[in-house]
Amino acid sequence: MKKLQLTAILLTALSSAAIAQPQLRKDNIDEVIKAMTLEEKVTLIVGGSRAISISGVPSGTTDLVPGAAGVTRAVPRLGIPQTVLSDGPAGVRISPTREGDSKTYYATAFPVGTALATTWNPELVTEVTKAMGNEVLEYGIDVLLAPGMNIHRNPLCGRNFEYFSEDPLLSGKTAAAYVNGIQSQGVGVSIKHYAANNQETNRNENDSRVSERALREIYLRNFEIAVRESDPWTVMSSYNKLNGEYTQQSHWLLTDVLRDEFGFNGIVMTDWGAKQGTVKSLNAGNDLMEPGKQEEMERIIAGEKDGSISEETLNTSVRRLLEYIVKTPRFNGYKFSNAPDLKAHASLVRSAAAEGMVLLKNDGVLPLDKDAKIALYGVASYDLIAGGTGSGNVNKAYIRNLKDGLEGDGMSVEPSAPDWYAKYIAYTETTEANSSGRSVFWGKPVLPEMEVPANFINKIQETTDVAVFTIGRNAGEGSDRKNAAGDFLLNDTERTLLQNLCDAYHKHGKKVVVVMNIGGVIETASWKHLPDAILLVWQPGQEGGASIADVLTGRVNPSGKLPVTFPMAFFDNPSSKNFPYDYKAAKGGFFGGSKTPVKDVDYTDYEEGIYVGYRYFSTNNVEVSYPFGYGLSYTSFEYGKPAVKAVAGGFTASVTVTNTGKTAGKEVVQLYVSAPAGGLDKPARELKAYAKTPVLQPGESCTLVMKVTDGELASFNEATHVWETAAGAYKILFAADVNDIRCTADYKVKKAISRVL
Ligand code: BGC
Repeated sequence: MKKLQLTAILLTALSSAAIAQPQLRKDNIDEVIKAMTLEEKVTLIVGGSRAISISGVPSGTTDLVPGAAGVTRAVPRLGIPQTVLSDGPAGVRISPTREGDSKTYYATAFPVGTALATTWNPELVTEVTKAMGNEVLEYGIDVLLAPGMNIHRNPLCGRNFEYFSEDPLLSGKTAAAYVNGIQSQGVGVSIKHYAANNQETNRNENDSRVSERALREIYLRNFEIAVRESDPWTVMSSYNKLNGEYTQQSHWLLTDVLRDEFGFNGIVMTDWGAKQGTVKSLNAGNDLMEPGKQEEMERIIAGEKDGSISEETLNTSVRRLLEYIVKTPRFNGYKFSNAPDLKAHASLVRSAAAEGMVLLKNDGVLPLDKDAKIALYGVASYDLIAGGTGSGNVNKAYIRNLKDGLEGDGMSVEPSAPDWYAKYIAYTETTEANSSGRSVFWGKPVLPEMEVPANFINKIQETTDVAVFTIGRNAGEGSDRKNAAGDFLLNDTERTLLQNLCDAYHKHGKKVVVVMNIGGVIETASWKHLPDAILLVWQPGQEGGASIADVLTGRVNPSGKLPVTFPMAFFDNPSSKNFPYDYKAAKGGFFGGSKTPVKDVDYTDYEEGIYVGYRYFSTNNVEVSYPFGYGLSYTSFEYGKPAVKAVAGGFTASVTVTNTGKTAGKEVVQLYVSAPAGGLDKPARELKAYAKTPVLQPGESCTLVMKVTDGELASFNEATHVWETAAGAYKILFAADVNDIRCTADYKVKKAISRVL
């Protein structure tokens, strides 16, 4: 009798457990986990996309936001909604039109990542990404797959435009400012691609071989800053291997470093492509497989059954996913409008992009005289490149070109060149589109430069005061750029056009301005002596033409500084000998086609270690074309007497900056530190802090104060696994760029400091 009763009780308990259906709330996550079946847990861990249907389990995948990159899947029984993930990073990337719907869903194309970093202005970056985050929210998206924040290791990485800088501090601070802006809107980000994903060639399989010191001081340091200073909801692990292991399967990278050391407590998701070792990924701390495949579900279920995944591991990832889900607007029932204020955002894009431009050269021609009549050359003047290609491409409603921008600022553009360019572009666009067959995903291919006969130039010269020539470059996901004419180098058409313009205009005492509308560094040393002014505008977003015009006409005084070095030549760059600049040489190894691993394709040795960018150039006194941190202004600034004051755990550095010119403007002060000799081998100087003044009127001053901790002066000792701050006298350099030290002060660390990991 007793036995029967017990069985009955057990059965009732079991069946009620089987039908336990708590509905997810912020405060019942554990209860929900308890109620979940194995299949339901796996439904969460393996994401979805509208392209992938997974049978046998509640798919929960509907096309909530057409064109979004992926979703986390729903478990309706427990009140767990699907959430939506979308690219990123220069704005929301969704389909601009929908079937059977006459409304449009364009998003704002913001300045690319490198342009944002060029502002050296975290407050501005946050203002921009607040607007971007509002578009994320209002288009019904929960996570923006951004920012891209890999280090610019080499100028030819095809995705550098998405990324911020060659310096981890500038990259990390810009990333934190970016994330804080987006997340202030109640939506999340996925900082990517973690880590050492510094080339596109064979990006799925390439093994980045990096010393632990270089990882910790350069390639992980920016992620660390972003995690500590902005608490991103998610991190995206990269495709590549790191020192022999896929990053998405590296426990050391995803758990020991990211969570235990940096304090990350959100979700890690894969980049868009599963690796074989789903179980290993999960055990490593990669919580979400995107966009998800049937096999991955099966692997996890099998893994749970054979014990290679513990219940605890499974539940930990599920808990993180649920903690994420309860934060999302979709869970919280936010009624998105599908109608963000694109007009207001466009005007913000216009001013932010102008602050992300760098005046590289100015022999008195800029700002342009307001009555100057302009001869406007270069295909990109009329077909501006707002952003790069690949998943970083944004479907925007329009791009303002430079002609319209100049005219909008009241300038007069000579009409026959525009006419020629319009015809050329219309014709070439059709032939290029036909031959390249590129889809919207990749964005528009850049059209080849138009050849302009010298007699045409000479004739137009007679009726104009100045020539402006825009050089355009584009690149993006999936391939790296080339050290070749038309890419890193100017091609013959561009060189001839530049030479002919300079000949024609200089002969009559008139000037030539070059505008560089590029996504990554190009060679400048061989031609920069020709024009009278050079303005680097990067890929400035959809209002680019207006932003450029604002700088050319002086409506905006340029205050951007280079976030990356422009070397004299490609091979001056320390990473160039270990970079796939010419992957013809690597044929056979591409995509693992060869049995013998091919250098720079199957593996890449980061032989330069920590000597990335200016850390190499300044330590070895290698001449550069434009140094890191460089940028001119229409006014001049004087730095006063600097002060360095020891405070608890570090020092504050302050300096008063005065506008000594005739135009209002902003200045960025960069604080580099030179360490005393004797400790670990160190770069000649390293950026440790920076600050930007507000707009200073002529004669006006402002004191900038920057704080540095002793811990931030440390280098990583690989032998002992200790962060070491050597004792001794540190030189504190107050600089306008890495080579332009305006004043110095001393700081003493009395006793060596060690931080043991
Ligand atoms: C890219 C990611 C992107 C994802 C989703 C991948 O190929 O590397 O940056 O977020 O696709 O579109």
